[in-house]
Amino acid sequence: MLGRGGELMRVALGVSGGVAAYKAAELVRRLQQEKLAVQVVMTRGAQEFVAPLTFAALTGEKVITELFGEKQATANLESAIEHIAVAQRIDLLVIAPATADILAKLANGIADDFLTTLYLATKAPVIVAPAMNVNMWEHAATQKNLETLRARGVRVVQPDEGYLACGMVGPGRLAGIEAIASAVCETLGLRHDLEGMKIVVTAGPTIEDVDPVRMLTNRSSGKMGYAVADAAWRRGAHVTLVSGPTELHAPNEVDWVPVRSTEEMHVAVRERAKDADALIMAAAVADYRPAERGTQKIKRSEGRLTLELEPTADILAELGREKGVRILVGFAAETDHVAENARRKLAAKGADMIVANDVTQEGAGFDTDTNIVTFFLRDGREVALPKMPKFDVANRILDCVMELRKGVK
Ligand code: CTP
Repeated sequence: MLGRGGELMRVALGVSGGVAAYKAAELVRRLQQEKLAVQVVMTRGAQEFVAPLTFAALTGEKVITELFGEKQATANLESAIEHIAVAQRIDLLVIAPATADILAKLANGIADDFLTTLYLATKAPVIVAPAMNVNMWEHAATQKNLETLRARGVRVVQPDEGYLACGMVGPGRLAGIEAIASAVCETLGLRHDLEGMKIVVTAGPTIEDVDPVRMLTNRSSGKMGYAVADAAWRRGAHVTLVSGPTELHAPNEVDWVPVRSTEEMHVAVRERAKDADALIMAAAVADYRPAERGTQKIKRSEGRLTLELEPTADILAELGREKGVRILVGFAAETDHVAENARRKLAAKGADMIVANDVTQEGAGFDTDTNIVTFFLRDGREVALPKMPKFDVANRILDCVMELRKGVK
């Protein structure tokens, strides 16, 4: 999940052959609004109802229509194992519309085309939205297949009742696009609870130049801060990410402000903090910079060299002194006395919460995709989280920010 660094979550949308196949185009749009990348997979039957080109145009991606490439004769290894690659890449498989035939195949493990093979090959959660004639829907075989699929953890979005394409009335009409989209969102844990909020996040290291070729910096990769920005954006916040130099990419819609030195970060954060509802300071900021930065390279000479350093602005502490109603979250990356240091920083910086971690622990700290953190809250609570992906830590931090904002203790 994490490490996405701005990468979208991927959903495979399986379209099987039914009149409702055209509605899948609308579902593509709806899922894209949820900031999901959609890979469409069509059965042969679906292609009788809608041209793959429709989906290719909507998704900007090749639509998968066959298991073995264009023609069997030209099948190559790449297309033959594509279902495995797709299966591993996706976060969710949703089949809409799902015909009685597809449900029967899934229930029985038949894998005779790309979609059914993908179902067997993926470990991602699966949702089906059936659509068919009422008699087919009510048939004992279909109901038994649905039971089998449900027992396996497949989520079924019940069809609506109404006029069916065959002229009959009853259940069998593809569920509404909103119902399918909310099943997808719920399964992926997508929320919109930060809509209307302005959040400023800092990330990465800062760099202090010593001379034109040398610099002082630290090992921060920026992954934690980028995960926070990513998670906040997915939950609907307006996000400004003030970032020191990193290799990571932020989602396009995030207001990305690249900076280099602590002073640049200081100026950028101050400016953007004015109308922010929350500041989450995950950057590993340089506390000192060379007192003098020469324009020429420092030359080697005999004996020791002393570099005089002067303190930089403590951005978090400064904002803590003029906190107002903003929620202020700081981080503490420690190598020892984690709790002690975190509690001290909480008080010294005037933050609402400090997210502390012991960077010497396996699976925590710099350049890892996971973190092991404890929240130290101003009200005295201390919440220790188990090791989890940084993206999940980010969501827990945001949950806490929301709770603090509501004043709920
Ligand atoms: N921070 C900041 N400006 C600084 C230094 C730190 O805004 N000049 C912020 C960091 O982004 C982090 C928090 O303060 O959210 C704590 O940073 P940390 O480096 O752990 O604390 P320091 O006060 O620098 O203490 P020390 O380096 O001695 O552990």
